[in-house]
Amino acid sequence: MQVKVFDTTTELDSYAAGLFAAALKAKPDSTLGLATGSTPIGIYEKMIELYEQGELSFKYATTFNLDEYVGLSPDHEQSYARFMNRHLFAHVDLPAGRSHLPSGTAANLEAECAGYDRMLEEQSVDIQLLGLGHNGHIGFNEPDRALQGGTHIVELEQATREANARFFDSLDEVPTQAITMGVGSILKADAILLVVKGADKAGIVKQALQGPITTEVPASLLQTHKNVTVLVDREAGRLL
Ligand code: GLP
Repeated sequence: MQVKVFDTTTELDSYAAGLFAAALKAKPDSTLGLATGSTPIGIYEKMIELYEQGELSFKYATTFNLDEYVGLSPDHEQSYARFMNRHLFAHVDLPAGRSHLPSGTAANLEAECAGYDRMLEEQSVDIQLLGLGHNGHIGFNEPDRALQGGTHIVELEQATREANARFFDSLDEVPTQAITMGVGSILKADAILLVVKGADKAGIVKQALQGPITTEVPASLLQTHKNVTVLVDREAGRLL
């Protein structure tokens, strides 16, 4: 694992966006794995800047997002589909139809999971962007005695719902389930970029990178991957 510590989040965001720009320049039809949460927002802002400067193009790219809340339609204010449109897709040249998110409102969620996995088998991810949950989750793969490989439905931990309640009017409105890519699919990506920001994640990032590999810290499984780059700001990296 390569770990890079940045003095400021702005520098981190520029660096991460630059990595995507370089990857898309080298392989314009890259398949990108994208993430939601507050962590990647600054990276997406920098990507949009690079796009506006003619330095980055998604014209031939395909994207797959990690997860979506069960029960939220794509036009729900807090759905991850809406999040991606707001923070990235509406501002760049990614063609309609080449961005994929699991549907949290599919009539048959099991079939939705299987269909998402089929697409991921056909188009393997070149670079997967990941944030980190306070409990070590990646995507919505919550700590557990066993983890699933493929896309599946998860019950969200109370702590995860509380952490994400800041985006909703009240905790009651935060869905109790999500559909998420599994750790198996995440680990199939050629390259993984894990981004962690803020003092409140210093402990969990240390556990994920330097602690034992355990399903109780899903991000610790990244230690088994051959090409992981970890970008942290000073605060998140202070215990490494
Ligand atoms: C969310 C997402 C994750 C994200 C994590 C951290 O619940 N499902 O993909 O990485 O929690 O979010 P944040 O970046 O807002 O701290």
